[in-house]
Amino acid sequence: MALGTRSYHGNPLAMHLPLPINSGHFQQWLALWQQTTRDVLGEDLGNHMLDYAKRIARGMQMGMDLLPRGHNTLGIPVFNARPDQPEQAD
Ligand code: HEM
Repeated sequence: MALGTRSYHGNPLAMHLPLPINSGHFQQWLALWQQTTRDVLGEDLGNHMLDYAKRIARGMQMGMDLLPRGHNTLGIPVFNARPDQPEQAD
């Protein structure tokens, strides 16, 4: 994705689903990615790579049911998505 080659055809969600990880691990992963891409590519390109990773990480966390209720990738609140669970703040 970073190189724009569209050559990756795997299923990252399936790879990560069985892992014992939570949103904190994703935050840590993104912090390491930010640091590394900035060190290697500089701030502008690094930020670009961080945007990609944030989007993927968010999609993965949604697929793993790790995000607070009432939010989706479009930033549109979904009310009553799971009335049995209390809403969490961001
Ligand atoms: C908590 C954070 C994460 C952990 C602990 C984690 C861990 C792992 C592990 C264990 C694998 C499997 C390696 C293997 O057995 O071949 C893997 C694969 C992979 N991860 Fe992550 N990952 C994390 C977050 C992410 C994020 C945020 C991305 C993308 C931005 C990502 C992209 C990938 C990709 C593309 C693969 C290869 C999947 C494939 O083989 O098709 N991971 N990761």
